[in-house]
Amino acid sequence: MQDKLKILEQKKAEALLGGGQKRIDSQHKKGKLTARERIHFLMDEGTFEEIGMLVQHRSNDFGLDKEKYLGDGVVTGYGNVNGRLTYVFSQDFTVFGGSLSETHAEKICKIMDLAMKNGAPVIGLNDSGGARIQEGVVSLGGYADIFYRNVRSSGVIPQLSAIMGPCAGGAVYSPAMTDFILMVENTSYMFVTGPNVVKTVTHEEVSSEELGGAITHASKSGVTHFACANEVEAINYLKQLLSYVPQNCEEAAPALPYDIGNEIREDLNKIIPENANQPYDIREVIEKVIDDNSFLEVHKLFAENIVVGFARLAGRSIGIVANQPAVLAGVLDINSSTKAARFVRFCDSFNIPLLVFEDVPGFLPGTDQEWNAIITNGAKLLYAFSEATVPRITVITRKAYGGAYDVMNSKHIGADMNFAWPSAEIAVMGAKGAAEIIFKNDIAAAKDKDAKWKEKEAEYQTMFANPYRAAERGFIDEVIEPKETRLKLIKAFKMLENKVDKLPKKKHGNIPL
Ligand code: HXC
Repeated sequence: MQDKLKILEQKKAEALLGGGQKRIDSQHKKGKLTARERIHFLMDEGTFEEIGMLVQHRSNDFGLDKEKYLGDGVVTGYGNVNGRLTYVFSQDFTVFGGSLSETHAEKICKIMDLAMKNGAPVIGLNDSGGARIQEGVVSLGGYADIFYRNVRSSGVIPQLSAIMGPCAGGAVYSPAMTDFILMVENTSYMFVTGPNVVKTVTHEEVSSEELGGAITHASKSGVTHFACANEVEAINYLKQLLSYVPQNCEEAAPALPYDIGNEIREDLNKIIPENANQPYDIREVIEKVIDDNSFLEVHKLFAENIVVGFARLAGRSIGIVANQPAVLAGVLDINSSTKAARFVRFCDSFNIPLLVFEDVPGFLPGTDQEWNAIITNGAKLLYAFSEATVPRITVITRKAYGGAYDVMNSKHIGADMNFAWPSAEIAVMGAKGAAEIIFKNDIAAAKDKDAKWKEKEAEYQTMFANPYRAAERGFIDEVIEPKETRLKLIKAFKMLENKVDKLPKKKHGNIPL
C-alpha cells in the first residue's frame, strides 16, 4: 500500500505544478495569479474539492503524445463561496497557454452538468489562448459543447465569467452568454479578431488593450459589466455578486436579518433642484433609500445615463434601474435601453424584485439613434419590463415624459406599485415643446409671439407638470414625500413578497433582438 500511496502522492504533486515552475514564474511576472491561486482566493478556506485532476489530453498529433500535463490546462471542482455551494473552472495558462482541448472542454462540461443538476452557480475563470491549435476540430467541438450548456443553463443557474488573461476568437462567446463578465485591467482582453487581423483587413492600427481591454469593454462596447484593477478585486466582485443572487431560479435570494427602525430619510426632501432642468445625481437618491453601503453598481462605465445594480432593502436583495439626470439628462437611448433590459431580465430570471427610479425626458432624438434602431432597442426595455413577473415598484422623482413614461415600469405594463414625488411631471413632453405644437396658431397670431409662447408654456406646465393627473386616474398609487420613500418601499415590497404572476403558456416570447 505504501508504494501505491506514493504513486498517488507523486501524481498529485505533478498536477499541482501545471505546466511547471518556470511557466508559473512567468505567469507571476506578468502580474497574474495561477489557476489554483485564483480558486484559493475565491473559495472559502478548505472547501474546494477538485474533480478531474488527473485528466490528460488524448491527442498524438504534432508531437503532443510526448507532452502531457495532468489536469490538461484547467482546474475544475466545487466548493463554497461565503458558505454556499459554487462550481468553478479555472483555466491554467501554464499548460499550453490554457488552450482548450477536447478533454479540457469535457472537464468544464462535467462541472456545468453537475451545477445544473444540483442547482448552483458556475464561475468561469478564463485565461486561455483559445482552441488548442494542434487538436483542430475536436477543440472547436469542445467549445460548442460549452456554448450549448451555457444556453441550457441560462436563467436556471447564475453563470459568472471573470476574464483573467487572453480571450479571443470564438472563445469569447461562452462568457458572452453568461450573466456577468468581469475583466482585469491591463492583463485581460477579449476580441473576435486580434490587432494583427484588424490591421490586415481594415488597416487600423490598434493595441490589444485599446481593441479589447477591460476599460474598452466596460465603457465603449458594454461587453464587460465590471473593469477591475486587479485579479483579487475581480474575485471580490464575484463574491459580492453571488451574495445578491439565489442559487438557482427556483429559490429566493438570500436575505440578511433586519429589524425595522426609523426609516424616514429627511435628506431625500432636499435633493430635487427647484429648476426642473438642473441635473442631480440619482445615486444620491439610491444611497439614501437602500440599506447602508449595499449598492453594487453593474455596468458603471457604460451608458451612464441609466444606473443599474443590486442593493438591499431591509436586508432583502433588489435590482435597481434608475434614469440618471446627471448624464444626458437621463435620456433613454440605444445603449441605456439594452443595458437596463438585460439587467431587468437577469433579475426576473432569478426572482429578484425590481425597483425603478424614474426621471426621464424621453428617448434621444437624432439620425444616429434612429438609423441604429432605437425603435428595436428601446423595445427591448419595454419588453423586458412587461414580461417581468417579480415584484415591481416605480418611484417617479421628476420627469416621466412621453413613451419613456410607459417604458419605465409604468402601471400599464404590469408594475405593482407606482409612487410619485410631488416634484413629478408626468406628460407627453416638456411644456415648452408642447406649447409650440398645440398652441401653434395662437402663438403665430399673437403680436408678441415670445410672450404668448411663455404664457401657453406656463398653462401646460400648471396642467401637467405634476403627479396629480396621473394619481386621479390611479396610474400613480400614491404621491409621497421623498423622505417617506424608504419606509413606503419596505412596506410595499413586504406586501408583494408572495406575489404570484405567470406568463401565458408559450414556448418562449420573441423579444426584439
Ligand atoms: C496551443 C497554445 C495556444 C493554442 C498558446 N499556446 N496558445 N498552444 N494552442 N491556442 C501555448 C504556446 O505555444 C506557449 O507554449 C504557451 O501556450 C504560452 O504562449 P505564449 O505565446 O508564449 O504566451 P504569450 O506571449 O503570453 O501569448 C499568449 C497568446 C498567444 C496571445 C494567447 O499564445 C497566442 O496568440 N496564441 C494563439 C491564439 C489563437 O490564435 N488561438 C486560436 C483562436 S481561435 P510554451 O510551450 O512555449 O509554453 C479559437 C477558436 C475558438 O479559439 C472557436 C470557438 C467557436
